[in-house]
Amino acid sequence: MSTRILALESSCDETACAVVIDGRRLLASSVASQMEIHARYGGVFPEVASRQHVLSLVPVVRQTLQKARLSLDEMDAIAVTRGPGLAGSLVVGLNAAKGLALASSKPLLGINHLEGHLYSAWIAAFPADPPPYFPLIALLVSGGHTELILMTDHLTYCRLGGTRDDAAGEAFDKVARLLGLPYPGGPAIEQAAAGGDPQAFALPRAWLKGSWDFSFSGLKTAVLRLVRQLEKEGKPLPVADLAASFQAAVVEVLVGKTLQAARQFQVRQILVAGGVSANQALRAAIRAQDDFPVRIPPLGLCTDNAAMIAAAAHFRYLSGQRDPLDIEIRPSWPLT
Ligand code: KG4
Ligand code: ZN
Repeated sequence: MSTRILALESSCDETACAVVIDGRRLLASSVASQMEIHARYGGVFPEVASRQHVLSLVPVVRQTLQKARLSLDEMDAIAVTRGPGLAGSLVVGLNAAKGLALASSKPLLGINHLEGHLYSAWIAAFPADPPPYFPLIALLVSGGHTELILMTDHLTYCRLGGTRDDAAGEAFDKVARLLGLPYPGGPAIEQAAAGGDPQAFALPRAWLKGSWDFSFSGLKTAVLRLVRQLEKEGKPLPVADLAASFQAAVVEVLVGKTLQAARQFQVRQILVAGGVSANQALRAAIRAQDDFPVRIPPLGLCTDNAAMIAAAAHFRYLSGQRDPLDIEIRPSWPLT
């Protein structure tokens, strides 16, 4: 018997809904992005985000069910992102999911957004695509998180380390702003970097030897100093070279530490997920070795979406998780 799960995701600035079968087969996925609205403010504006979720949720759910050619009654469970994320945004999704679960008498499952990002790698890219296998090292790089995780089985995580300051995506967003590039900074930096020299500027790499942690604030400050100095000298900003040098520094540390962990823990695979895993330089660098097969979700599943929440929910559903209708949001919810 297969399981069909309808999931909602509204933890930040995307209102999303998806239907996934057995945690792997994506039937339908819709994402209403608020990117253009927040770009005007240069970042996510929480009050605006929750209001947009209220406006978008019902149309997004309708559209998803239409695409899947299924009704709510044909689902086995309703899943939703319970945290971490923006409180006002999470509340909208959780309340909507409770309403759907109540109306359809289906079980409700509150899912951790970070677990969702990891399970985005389970969605099959094509019908015969085999699932990831354990043990694996997962590098989770998003706007709010940078985590190195050892996964020994489904839903079983050992957090090796994480960022001590800025998340990788946050560093992309902040440096983009310094370079006068639009929000979100990740894709803007990637685009600008394509025409630049990654060796133009020698930027610092924080290896934090002896620890699996990361740090990107020193790198961000180094870019800030360079920008100020160049501006003082009245020189035009070499945006492409600065973007390429910054991107190279981030990618080198992310890939270097992930490979080190993969070797030390003798894993069978490497998994990269989260918004920053859409970065082509990162994707290419982690794949430029033959020791470990690498799993990275297709671009559309790297940034926030509901398919990943439905995929994670499938494995939670199999493990017996069913949540009561009075669960609350968890804006700060670590994976372990
Ligand atoms: O996973 P995500 O959509 O949301 C969070 O859970 O935070 O990640 C968003 C982050 C943003 O910081 C964005 O700048 C970054 O992912 N990002 C990228 C790229 N696409 C999105 N960073 C680098 N290169 C990209 N192509
Ligand atoms: Zn995310």
